[in-house]
This record gives sequence, structure tokens and C-alpha cells, in this order.
Amino acid sequence: MSDGSSFYITTPIFYVNDVPHIGHAYTEVAADVLARWHRQSGDDTWSLTGTDEHGQKILRTATANGVTPKEWVDKLVAEAWKPLLEIVDLSNDDFIRTTDERHETNVQKFLQHLYDAGHIYTGEFQGYYCVGCEEYKQPGDLVDGEGDYEGQKVCAIHSKPVELLNEKNYFFRMSAFADQLLALYEERPDFVQPESARNEVVSFVKSGLADLSISRTSFDWGVKVPWDESHVVYVWFDALLNYITAVGYGADDEEFARRWPATHIVGKDILRFHAVIWPAMLLAAGLEVPKQVFGHGWLLVGGEKMSKSKLTGIAPSQIIDTFGSDAFRYYFLRAISFGQDGSFSWEDLAARYQAELANGFGNLASRVIAMVSRYCDGVIPTAGGLTPAEEAIVALERSVTDAASEAISRLAIHEAIASIWELVDALNLYITEQEPWALAKDPANRARLETVLATVVRGLGTLAVLLSPVTPKATAKLWTALGGEGSVTDQRIDRAWEWTGGASVAPLEALFPRIEASGE
Ligand code: MSP
Repeated sequence: MSDGSSFYITTPIFYVNDVPHIGHAYTEVAADVLARWHRQSGDDTWSLTGTDEHGQKILRTATANGVTPKEWVDKLVAEAWKPLLEIVDLSNDDFIRTTDERHETNVQKFLQHLYDAGHIYTGEFQGYYCVGCEEYKQPGDLVDGEGDYEGQKVCAIHSKPVELLNEKNYFFRMSAFADQLLALYEERPDFVQPESARNEVVSFVKSGLADLSISRTSFDWGVKVPWDESHVVYVWFDALLNYITAVGYGADDEEFARRWPATHIVGKDILRFHAVIWPAMLLAAGLEVPKQVFGHGWLLVGGEKMSKSKLTGIAPSQIIDTFGSDAFRYYFLRAISFGQDGSFSWEDLAARYQAELANGFGNLASRVIAMVSRYCDGVIPTAGGLTPAEEAIVALERSVTDAASEAISRLAIHEAIASIWELVDALNLYITEQEPWALAKDPANRARLETVLATVVRGLGTLAVLLSPVTPKATAKLWTALGGEGSVTDQRIDRAWEWTGGASVAPLEALFPRIEASGE
């Protein structure tokens, strides 16, 4: 990571047919940890999230609720999706809505450009459409329905019947880009990650790429096709463009050149849209393809993707009201290997909260601040002669800083946190072994006591800087308590180990307080 290089990271934009659940929040926090990490690495960082507001799924929900689609999306954005950002402590730089004028105008500009360049033609299409996915399905994507849908073919993701549609549409000549896409996957093995996702995408394109229907006529909740207003733009074509309309495509060339291309964080269910359709659209427009597309796994409940439509959705506030946003962020990024599926369980969350956050990290911080207050009147001592035990701590601070940065560069967030936790464990062990409370009993040990306390203070400072992207609230409090100057978010993360301590400590409330059982 070099100073000032551009890092633009995006989340998918979320369908506002319903309120968020923890699967959505998981995508948000993963992208946010990466954004915060890059900001603290000195990169010229921009993070984008937003909402996907057009299409049949939203139109139907609005109609079923007796309101216009615009009324519906305005309400959901204001009451559910924007508040989610606060709830999970997101540090996004921008929030785009596909109903924003800045988006709609430039979607039209992009489409007109493709039309003028001959990438679009008129055709007739018949196929099975899943409104949940907003996608035409291949026969191989369908499975046998169960229960109410017994005897019918249903979407494998939504378990709901697909609809047979027959429309005259505009088509994007996507098939023309198959070879260029395959060359891209070949030349840039990191373009689609993780490896399993890349393999899936390569074999999908190798099996033959069809052209893409990019307009609809049976409803009008969408961006109008500029040369034929009886059509609206297919919702995915419209939605994918948010990643460039948000950073100045069609409106601000300088901003666009500064930000684009992006790293896209998406769930694996929407990987093909991002790794196949989206780069093909960009190639057709003569624009750079994304820097990287990373497909993360699903949060599972009962072995299936958590979803509101299957009534397995858990609201983020159900967890955060009790455990706090830091614990939410930490838990999902630590417990699940980023890129794999993971099962959520309250027991696992509570156990990790207690063992790792409260006892491991929080307690370490409280003890150290308390000892500096008690034994040194709050003045942070300086280290004297270092023994191998202190040298090992200082060396570890440096090696975990490097290891965590390296893991983040591979988007292996769970590995970065695991590396940082080696320092939490090592500091706890160091205190147990050095017994500062015993040293404090004899004035003859004063110099040694000061060295030990100075060592744990600097270790905690390193932790505050390294964990700031993951647990921003706790680390801000800790930084202040350690007498750190300015904001912890302004400290360079790649030099986290350099900090040696502030002037004096300030009181610190429990970073991760004990959670009383609710007694259901
Ligand atoms: N609107 C499209 C994305 C357009 S991007 C140009 C969409 N929206 S969504 O609201 O259905 O999903 C948004 C994100 O939430 C996706 O990355 C999806 O994978 C993620 N998740 C939805 N349920 C999830 C889980 N149960 N687990 C993890 N992530 C999940 O798709």
C-alpha cells in the first residue's frame, strides 16, 4: 500500500423492498473494515454504499402496500436503510440511490453510448424470470418446488416459482465479449476472488455467453431507455452503473479518473452480475474494468441463506442493542473466513464476546490503565533496559502489523484479525508472567515495573490502532485513555507498532461490559 494511491471500495446497493437483516449488514461491515484500513494506510480512499430502487420486485411490494414505488422507497431508505449505517457504524463517503438524478441521467448517457456504438439491438425473448433475483433463469438454475409449490420449478435461491415472460426487448451484445472476459480472468487471476468464485465464473463464461436482455416494457418503474421511452432499463443494468455514476461518470471526468476502478465486495449470489455482465458492459463502453470483485459467503440459518422472504432474517439491531456495533463487526469478520459461508449462533456470539472481547481485550485495557493510575499516579512511564520478554513484545507488534496488512491486501479480513489477536494474547501472557502487582510491592523494582507498564501501554496503543477499523468505538475510547494524541483513526496503521505511549492515562470505562442474561 503506497501513500496516496486510490482505493475505491463498494458494497452492493441494496433492494429496498424490505428492511435489512444481518446478511446485508455483514456485506456493509466487511467493506467498511477494508475502507477504514486503507484510509489509515494513507490511501486516497472512497467508500460507497446505497440502494437499488427500481424494478419489478420493488414495484410489486409498493403496490401490495398501497403506495407508489417512490413513496415506498423514500420511506424504506429513510426509516430502515440509512439508519442501518448508523447502527453498524459505517464510515461510507457516499450513499447513492438509483432514483438519484445524478444516477438516472448518466445511466441514460451510458446506454446511449452503447447504442450509438452498435452494442445494442432489438430482439424477442422468452424465458423464465425470477422476480426475487430480478433475473432470467436457465433451466439448470431451477429446482423442484416443495410444499405449496410442489410440481412446479422454482428458483434455487428464493424457492419461489419463476414466471414465463415473453417480451420484445433491447439486447446488449454481451456474447461478443466472451473472449475478452476469459483473457481478463486468465491475465489477472486476482480479478475474481476467492479462487472458488473465480473458477465458477470462468466455467460459466466458457460454457457459452448469451446476449443480455436489457429493457422491459411490461411496467415503467425504472430509467427510461433514452431513444425509446416505452422501455425501462433492466434493473441490474441500471444498478451496476451506480458504481460509476457515483464517482462522476458522465459528469465529472476528474473525479471519475481519480476514483475508478473499484474493488467490489458482493455476496456470492450476485457474483456473476459483477464478474461477467459488469466488466462486459465496461469493455463495451471502452472503460476500465473493476480492480477486483470479491464474492463473500452467506450467513446461513438452518443450513440455508438467511433471508426475510424465508422468515429467517435477524435484524442487526437485535444483536447490536445488546452487544454493541463493535462486537457485531468483530464477531462476523472474525468467526467467518471471509469468502466462506458461516452459520450464525447466539451461543457462539456470546462465547466469543465474553472470551475474546471482554476478557481478552477489554480486561487487558482496564487492567493496564488501572495499574498505571495506581502505581504511577497516571503518568505513563518510559521503558528502561529491555529484557528478551520486552523485545519479543516489540518484535511481535511489528510482525503482526505487517501480517495483518498483508492479509488485508488479500482481503483476508479474518486472518488479519487473527494476527492482531496474537498480540492481545501475548500481552495478557506477558502481564501474567511479569506480575507488575508483585513488582510494585518493592521500591527496589521500580525501574522494572516502569519498563513492564511502558511495554504493555505501547502494546495496547498498537492494538488500538490496528483494531480501529474493526472496533472503532472501543479503540477510540482506548486511545484517549492511553493519552494518544488526536484521533486514533488518524494514526497510520502500517506503522502501528511505532507508537510508544502518551503522557498520562485517563479513566477508561469497560470496553466490553458484562452482558446480563435477559432471562427470556
Ligand atoms: N440489489 C442487488 C445488488 C445490486 S449491486 C449493483 C441485491 N440486493 S440485495 O439486497 O438482495 O443483496 C445485497 C447484498 O446482501 C448481496 O451482496 C447479498 O449477497 C447480501 N446478502 C443477502 N443475504 C445474505 C445472507 N444471508 N448472507 C450474506 N449476505 C447476504 O442483490
